[in-house]
Amino acid sequence: MQYQFPETFWWGSASSAPQTEGDSLSFGKSATIWDHWFQQQPGRFHQQVGPAQTSGFYQHWRDDIALLKQLNHNSFRTSISWARLIPDGTGAVNPQAVSFYNQIIDELLAQGITPFINLFHFDMPLVLQEQGGWENLEVVAAYARYADTCFQLFGDRVKHWFTFNEPIVPVEGGYLYDFHYPNVVDFRRAATVAYHTMLAHAQAVQHYRQRQQGGEIGIILNLTPSYPRSAHPADVKAANVADLMFNRSFLDPALRGSYPEELVALLKRHGQLPACQPGDAELLATGVVDLLGINYYQPRRIKCRDSLVNPESPFMPEWFFDHYEMPGRKMNPYRGWEIYAPGIYDILTRLRESYGNPRCFISENGMGVENEERFAHNGQIADDYRIDFVREHLQWVHRGLAEGSNCLGYHMWTFIDNWSWCNAYKNRYGFVQLDLASQRRSIKKSGEWFARTARENGFSG
Ligand code: BG6
Repeated sequence: MQYQFPETFWWGSASSAPQTEGDSLSFGKSATIWDHWFQQQPGRFHQQVGPAQTSGFYQHWRDDIALLKQLNHNSFRTSISWARLIPDGTGAVNPQAVSFYNQIIDELLAQGITPFINLFHFDMPLVLQEQGGWENLEVVAAYARYADTCFQLFGDRVKHWFTFNEPIVPVEGGYLYDFHYPNVVDFRRAATVAYHTMLAHAQAVQHYRQRQQGGEIGIILNLTPSYPRSAHPADVKAANVADLMFNRSFLDPALRGSYPEELVALLKRHGQLPACQPGDAELLATGVVDLLGINYYQPRRIKCRDSLVNPESPFMPEWFFDHYEMPGRKMNPYRGWEIYAPGIYDILTRLRESYGNPRCFISENGMGVENEERFAHNGQIADDYRIDFVREHLQWVHRGLAEGSNCLGYHMWTFIDNWSWCNAYKNRYGFVQLDLASQRRSIKKSGEWFARTARENGFSG
């Protein structure tokens, strides 16, 4: 076989509690910022479909795990909903949630599928957002207690934990670019949220290690390689700032236990540095992960700015660069994201050369497509474009492995078409098609391809 992967390679997919569970305000669960925002501004969501309308994992978990088995997954990621487990954010545990997550974990294990559990996927409990969310250090402390509760309840069986999925996204969406609640536009507050998230991460890591449960703990970061338009020093400088802001702001604390000095100096110069407490540096240093999850969807192409900044505009990363639309780039027009498979290899290479080749895996990669029903053939979605997408990315992962990268697996986003935040069900990502009205599940052609690839541990051509 041309592309053979290591025997122990993780084949699977990723999902999250808020995007799949449904029953968003029942069985003891309290509201998250998503339930609240949808109630306030349904027009922000594609076709006004909100977080209650999902693939209903809360009800269909047993069938869905059977489907995972059919897809030959040996591992699967989902998240625990903080608002379900601890409805008031800080106090008593909801026994219905404990039974639910126990059932999931036990059934996955019974089917030979290793559970990867993430603790936070953009879903701040509303009650804690009302107290300031990540801007409030008491919420950071509450998160650390929640994390420790999860380790205590489930850590005997779960051996792969993640503190956060894409922690930069709530920063960008909620505090810079207005695509998540609370729709603030304020860089310094965004930087505070980012900083406090990493303090929360480090506290959770400490708790996990204190318990000595024989597993590992990591974080999942969306890494977007910054490519300069040209070798001109102005373009290169601009791409470096984008890299500092969007990659190294989380990558360095997660892998080196501290922030890049260049980033700190830049923010300081512009009066955007968040307040620090004594002991923070020591705390951050303890947050170096055992395992890094890499979500990769698209590159970031950068050029130097063509115009001066409006001095009255809010301070933004884009004060230092412009986005560059490279002629001839291959696009996913539905999501508006460039498809560039070598980017996945560039990430692995950089981790190997500059970050000591950490244990890592591809924790998300995928392609959202609109109106997929038009590709139905004999009742099945013939998503050859998705097969090509996955195959091409895996070829680059394979090359990284051949050169010595410590990449342990590949998880696709996602298992079944799911609710995608403000895009709701606009773009479908799943190996399994979901008919939202009937909740009928049907495996797409890509699901069959993936099942074969996982079974054979590779593919030809
Ligand atoms: C990742 C997230 O950013 O990409 C997922 O971890 C998300 O939650 C996925 O659904 C696809 O992005 P989008 O915005 O098209 O849903």
